[in-house]
Amino acid sequence: MDQAQQLREIIKAENATQRPLARIITVTSGKGGVGKSNVSINLAIQFRRMGQRVIILDADFGLANIEIMFGTVPKHNLSDLIYKHKNIKDIITWGPEGVGFISGGSGISGMYNLERKYLVDIIVNLAELDAIADTIIIDTGAGISSAVMEFLVASGEIILVTTPEPTSITDSYSLLKALNQQDRFSRDNTIIKVVSNRVATGEEGQQLFNKLNAVVARYLKLPLKYLGAIPQDQMLARGVMQQSPVSIQYPNSKSSKAFEQIAAELVNKNEIEKYKPRGMAAFFSHIITGRKLNSEKNTGDKASGQ
Ligand SMILES: Nc1ncnc2c1ncn2[C@@H]1O[C@H](COP(=O)(O)OP(=O)(O)O)[C@@H](O)[C@H]1O
Ligand SMILES: [Mg+2]
Repeated sequence: MDQAQQLREIIKAENATQRPLARIITVTSGKGGVGKSNVSINLAIQFRRMGQRVIILDADFGLANIEIMFGTVPKHNLSDLIYKHKNIKDIITWGPEGVGFISGGSGISGMYNLERKYLVDIIVNLAELDAIADTIIIDTGAGISSAVMEFLVASGEIILVTTPEPTSITDSYSLLKALNQQDRFSRDNTIIKVVSNRVATGEEGQQLFNKLNAVVARYLKLPLKYLGAIPQDQMLARGVMQQSPVSIQYPNSKSSKAFEQIAAELVNKNEIEKYKPRGMAAFFSHIITGRKLNSEKNTGDKASGQ
């Protein structure tokens, strides 16, 4: 049995057990600094307040964003699960209001070279997250790196954060174009939801979406869904400086209210019923088998740069 086949068997066995699978939401953007980590954290907090169990996976390899914004230093990261045989429960750090987070560290890129005997263990371990969380939010790095693409291709549900800056719109378009070119990207099994961040008015947010949607519909023929806008808000920036997310530090601020609305839209019953949660085993197996296929084809970093 080759590795891809073996992984498929594991997922089948995992999914055959009647346990619930987590909803996985991947947050991304064309360029950095547009508000991905703030969207991830604040949506996580709002989901918690709605009674959900939430874990954030910080997959922005370069910058350890989430831990800084929570003012908490995690003892372990994903590498410890992979190389030091830590259990999944040992690498979750519990932040304010019971939001869990996992620091990706160098663990995610390390999955590339793993031997099969470790892989099975890791996937089974990661699949345990389905029992620990209802929703897993993945905060990715920005741009068209192959690591980000792998996450997006494996995701059923993507939140694309964009801002009114002209470069943010063109970079959002470039990201979607690169995603659309991935062999394994399935437009029928992926929904892309757009958040307009740092807008002056709700109308500006809607216009920003319309602009992006028009070019994407025309040249890529990808459907986008507008999720809503987050206003430019100095309270958000102040919260970041104080290492406390705006939803906690300034719950009545306008950005906090906007996060609340977007979270409510995401847990809206009609919205949820449209997607079948895939769970973590399927998600990570998708990433790992994709890497193997890519390295076999020897295409390398076909979409590197940014
Ligand atoms: N809605 C907003 N209002 C004001 N400042 C914002 C807003 N969103 C983001 N920022 C500023 O941008 C910075 C970068 O946000 P961050 O979430 O870290 O971006 P990313 O994760 O995409 O790199 C924040 O520290 C904050 O100062
Ligand atoms: Mg970030």
